This record gives sequence, structure tokens and C-alpha cells, in this order.
Amino acid sequence: MTSQRPDGWQPDQYARFRAEREQPFYDLLDLVEPAPGGRVVDLGCGTGVLTRVLHERTQAAQTVGLDRSESMLVKSAEHAGGGVRFERGDIAEFAGLDGVGLDVVFANASLQWVGDHASLFPRLAATLNPGGQLAMQMPANEDHPSHAVSREVAQQPPHADALGGFVYRHSIESPEWYADQLARLGFAEQHVRVQVYLHRLPGPEDVVEWVKGSLLTGYRDRLPPPDYEAFEAAYRERLLVVLPDERPFLYPFKRLLLWGRTPERAR
Ligand SMILES: C[S@@+](CC[C@H](N)C(=O)[O-])C[C@H]1O[C@@H](n2cnc3c(N)ncnc32)[C@H](O)[C@@H]1O
Repeated sequence: MTSQRPDGWQPDQYARFRAEREQPFYDLLDLVEPAPGGRVVDLGCGTGVLTRVLHERTQAAQTVGLDRSESMLVKSAEHAGGGVRFERGDIAEFAGLDGVGLDVVFANASLQWVGDHASLFPRLAATLNPGGQLAMQMPANEDHPSHAVSREVAQQPPHADALGGFVYRHSIESPEWYADQLARLGFAEQHVRVQVYLHRLPGPEDVVEWVKGSLLTGYRDRLPPPDYEAFEAAYRERLLVVLPDERPFLYPFKRLLLWGRTPERAR
């Protein structure tokens, strides 16, 4: 079930801004109603530390954390047990667990890595029991220089050649698209919103540290280490020209939070 792509995730780098990265998880979790005795899946669970929180808050009987990255899952065993387990797998191929319906499909900061949401959403919705909940959060900051500069550098020599013309962009549609999609898929209730998280970083160079733990994984996955290092150095140089040299540095980060619930009776 797992694709054989290289794994550019670095859990320690990702955890450097732990408090800032966890806040959207808790905001998303606040949208989810308890599902006592239910079955929950955490798609793109990462290290699994938040999967345990999800399990406890939903009061589920069984929660499965699924992730493609071996390096992110390496410590997940510490959070397993008492109804929580972890599996290596690709969300792009996920179509449910053992053919039994799910009560909550949860995905925090992971679906932006999975393309073609027009086919992903019906597939995820089909795994839900009547009254089941879908909850997901994705970064929606493609227009900030932190993201735009990565695309700009990817199109310049020698990086464009090293990348074979590939330019990484998170897969995300407009908020309206998701609201429409949930309605068309028969969700009886929904909540879709964009929230701006304003991060106070020590300086603009910390934006590089931020994206090294997330966005730049899209390039680290595809480039041999020397080419990736050259790409990262060019990105840093360009970004620090574009961003104001202010301390603290205010880094506004938009995120899309989405929740929906299917009708109590089968559609
Ligand atoms: C930004 S991290 C979020 C981790 C965790 N949900 C959290 O909130 O801390 C994104 C995670 O999604 C996983 N991921 C990305 N694409 C995936 C895919 N196609 N299938 C499974 N996991 C994927 C990555 O390996 C990574 O662990």
C-alpha cells in the first residue's frame, strides 16, 4: 500500500515550531464531536503524538494513525496501545480500514501533499458511517513569499534542470470549493473557514527553518542531497532579500479548517 518514494521528512526539524504547529490541530479537534466507542483514522499522523490526543478526545474504541513516512513513524510505537495503532500507508490509496465504516476521518496538515482532491474527497466520504465526521486542516499560504520564492527558485537554473521542470505546490482548492464539495457529497452539516495564525519568529531567517520542516520536504524528496543543498541555499538567499529584516518577524500563516458530518441515516 506504500509508494516507494524517498522520504524527506525530518521529525526534529518539523518539531522545532511545535507550539505553533500544534495550535491548528487543537482548533480542528475542537470542531470534532466525541464518537464514544467509535473507529477513527488519523491520515498523515506524523510522529503519532497528536493521534493519541485525538483518540482520547474522541473517546474512540479504535484509532489508526496512517503515514507514508518511515522517519515520521519511527517513534509512533511510544504512542500506540489502548486502542491506538499505527500503519505505514499512502493516503492517495486509502479507501478505509478492513471494509468497516469509520466514525471520524481526521487529517491535520497532510492532505495538501495528496493531489486530486476531486477524487480524494468522495473516496474519504465513502469510508464514513452514517453520522460520521470528516475533519481536516491544510496550510493555505501559497501566496506568501515563503512559498512563492520556492516556486520561483525551482524554475531557475540549475535547479529547474535538477528538478526536471518540477515545481512543488501544495494541493489545495478554494474554501468555496470544499464547501460545495461537502454539500454535493451529501454531508448534512459543515463548517469551513480560513484562519490566520500570526507567528512571531525571532527573525526572517527563521522562516527558512519553518519551511525546512514542511514545504521544502517537497523538494528534499526529489533531489539528491547536493542538489537539495544548492536549492535550499538559493531559496534562503532570495527569501532574505524579499522579506523585511524585522525582529521579531511577523509571519502570517493562513490555514483552511474544514469539518463535515454525514446524515445519521445512510445516504
Ligand atoms: C505536516 S506533517 C503533519 C503530521 C501530523 N498530522 C501533525 O499534525 O503533527 C504531514 C504528514 O503527512 C504525511 N504524508 C504526506 N503525504 C502523505 C501520503 N500521501 N500518505 C500518507 N502520509 C502522508 C507526512 O509523511 C507527514 O508525516
